[in-house]
Amino acid sequence: MTSNHIPSIIAIDGPAASGKSTIGSRLAEALGYLFFDTGIMYRAITWLALNRGIDVHNASAVTALAEEAQIDIVPASKADGRACDVLLNGQDITWEIRGRRVDTNVSLVSTYPGVRKALSQQQRRIGQRGRIVMVGRDIGTVVLPNADLKIYLDASAAERAKRRHDEIMARGGKANYDEILKRVVERDRIDSTRDVAPLRAAPDAVVLDSDQLTADEVFEKVLALVK
Ligand code: CDP
Repeated sequence: MTSNHIPSIIAIDGPAASGKSTIGSRLAEALGYLFFDTGIMYRAITWLALNRGIDVHNASAVTALAEEAQIDIVPASKADGRACDVLLNGQDITWEIRGRRVDTNVSLVSTYPGVRKALSQQQRRIGQRGRIVMVGRDIGTVVLPNADLKIYLDASAAERAKRRHDEIMARGGKANYDEILKRVVERDRIDSTRDVAPLRAAPDAVVLDSDQLTADEVFEKVLALVK
């Protein structure tokens, strides 16, 4: 009886740095499911455009990249804190996509309908296989509207910026809280006001506000929804 009731397709959406990846990867591990962070794909295309010197304001040039680029997410080849390797046309860009330039430009790239179409088609194909936790901005609303469980993870911008700041410091990087907060707010603004697949909770999503909760507490709440 019980195993039939565990949702097979689980969608987690929410704004920047709301803890989707932390919670999603823990959940996938606990269930023995695949974890798929769709933000990686938008970041990879943004990095490719910047790296090739293509103007990120040129929607058709960026869309052409999204239609051709081969993005692979494979098990981690190095123990340097990465959850997986991100390969773009065979090149390891795992850390490059976390840089400031990608962070600043990814939301613009994500507004282009052609980019979204190319990437969400691939996401849907992978998601429909089931036994998956997929995280992003539009998974429950657009990519997998038939998901068995939809969670919308939220938190205030100040709390999210603090978490992102602490995460970078823990990796030994340099981070400025005010600058991170500015970028988080700007990314939220672009993500939630774009015409195609804007960030929002699906009507049938369970909304979790994590401001007053630790990562462990959020995870417990999510587990309770699954089991
Ligand atoms: O991890 P973080 O919340 O900072 O962002 P991310 O999940 O890596 O996503 C980076 C950007 O990609 C977002 O700000 C969105 O602009 C875009 N994105 C999207 O439009 N749709 C998705 N399904 C996932 C990401």
